[in-house]
Amino acid sequence: MKNKSFAIIGNPIAHSLSPLLHNYWLDKYKIKANYSLLDVKENEIEKITKKIRDGRINGINVTLPYKQKIIPYIDKLVNDAKSTNSVNTIFLDSSNSLIGENTDVYGLQAGYLKKIDEAENKKVLIIGAGGVAPSVIFALKKSKLKNISIINRTHEKSIFLKKRFNFLEILEWKSLESELINFDIIINATSLGLKDSNDFEFNFSRVKQSLIYIDTIYNPLETKTLKFLKENNIKTFNGLEMLIYQGQKSFYLWNKINPEIDDQLVNLLVSKLK
Ligand code: ATR
Repeated sequence: MKNKSFAIIGNPIAHSLSPLLHNYWLDKYKIKANYSLLDVKENEIEKITKKIRDGRINGINVTLPYKQKIIPYIDKLVNDAKSTNSVNTIFLDSSNSLIGENTDVYGLQAGYLKKIDEAENKKVLIIGAGGVAPSVIFALKKSKLKNISIINRTHEKSIFLKKRFNFLEILEWKSLESELINFDIIINATSLGLKDSNDFEFNFSRVKQSLIYIDTIYNPLETKTLKFLKENNIKTFNGLEMLIYQGQKSFYLWNKINPEIDDQLVNLLVSKLK
């Protein structure tokens, strides 16, 4: 039988850890397949989807900035992809329909939200309204959090998200520093803190001592803000768990095996981020 082929598309994509993650599991479960990086321009997205339709690629992950842009080329959005309008996993089903699913929501739930006691009653602030925000919002909703606020530098993007998720409270960007103290959970869904880019312009020094800080960034493992909070004995989660759990669900959708998250895998990923 021909080797299977999987890939991740995005732009830029060179630093993605998904190939390492999936190739580790493909190897562990002795599946004859390879998972590669595809640096795809926007005008090449359709070509990639055709390759899945004709069986040259068996499944892809989609990352920024294409999680919405790929939707016109898909036949059917299912489950969390339908609820968020954000797709990160694609495959062909048994009737040859190209299916778009979202495993980021599961990644957020399994990676963080399930690990927080009595999360339902906590007040949460999402900072950022870009590509990952719909998945963050929907994961919080699925995990039954009731009090969800959002803040974004570009205010219109928060308003746009509220059209889909009408329960959101919108805050003004200029009030961010003073609002931090009002929240039990804060999630960084911006690109602030990413390797080689800016971090927040101020310290998160005025926060609740019981705050839980979740960063969707995994490269670096600790952003400047996360490090600062950790040093001040605030409970923090970096983006690595989300990466691993979303990958676990994608792997299951493609291979019908729920792969184990073992120490060797975590160490391998962490070693690449040092
Ligand atoms: P985009 O939404 O542009 O496709 P993204 O990577 O999905 O890009 O999201 C980037 C997020 O980080 C956005 O919330 C962005 O805020 P804007 O919507 O105002 O662009 C946020 N972001 C990036 N750089 C930022 C900065 N220097 N200050 C504040 N927020 C920033």
